[in-house]
Amino acid sequence: MTQFSPLYEGKAKIIYATSDPDILLAEFKDDATAFNAQKRGSIQNKGVMNCAIASHLFQYLAAQGIPNHFIAQVAPNKMHMRRVEIIPLEVVVRNRAAGSLCRQTGLPLGLELNPPLVEFYLKNDDLGDPLLTGDRLRLLQIATDEEVAKIREMALAVNTHLSRFFAECGITLVDFKLEFGRSRSGEILLADEISPDSCRLWNQDESDPEKRILDKDRFRQDLGAIEDAYALVMQRVLAHSVR
Ligand code: C5P
Repeated sequence: MTQFSPLYEGKAKIIYATSDPDILLAEFKDDATAFNAQKRGSIQNKGVMNCAIASHLFQYLAAQGIPNHFIAQVAPNKMHMRRVEIIPLEVVVRNRAAGSLCRQTGLPLGLELNPPLVEFYLKNDDLGDPLLTGDRLRLLQIATDEEVAKIREMALAVNTHLSRFFAECGITLVDFKLEFGRSRSGEILLADEISPDSCRLWNQDESDPEKRILDKDRFRQDLGAIEDAYALVMQRVLAHSVR
């Protein structure tokens, strides 16, 4: 399939059109950013690792009945995906307290959250991706009430499936961020990526609170051994069946 010039370059991916108007190509980059791009760097081989992890997880989720934009991995760091209109929301699901939840509420790191917490943030770098209330979500008319209910239901279903998947890999899924899009027919599809850039993942074989971290928190907190952590996630994820 012919590759066209970039449609959009984000912090972690470049998106290209293809000769098929319903198919986009995503190229995963090694660039890493944190704190709304105030911290920048590069993680060696991240593009390849995240593309492999995301491709595997999207196939797994499709097999569990979660509709998503993934079509096929077409190169080590490239995937074809269905074109969707991205809904400008970052949907975070949390099973344990970490990150901004601890900072903003004082809850202790690692506190189990049962039921899981679902949060909606406005996807807007200039505004710093603010946390939305239900009323603000309605005010902004980013999605209909029906769509929001569907997105929440899908996010919780993704959490159920991914928590089990990662537990079977010896990894605790602490929290993660999802994005959703509308297909041409109006169907809500899971989109973007699922990777150690967008999830907090703790190695169940390690009790040390720093050594157990297998995700972008190693970059955010300058903990080192980032490539090794991503490689361990990739190796365990790819060893798990996509069914
Ligand atoms: O920073 P915070 O604790 O709110 O992040 C919650 C989860 O969402 C983390 O797994 C983080 O990696 C992810 N996230 C993301 N992109 C953002 C904000 C958060 O992938 N812009």
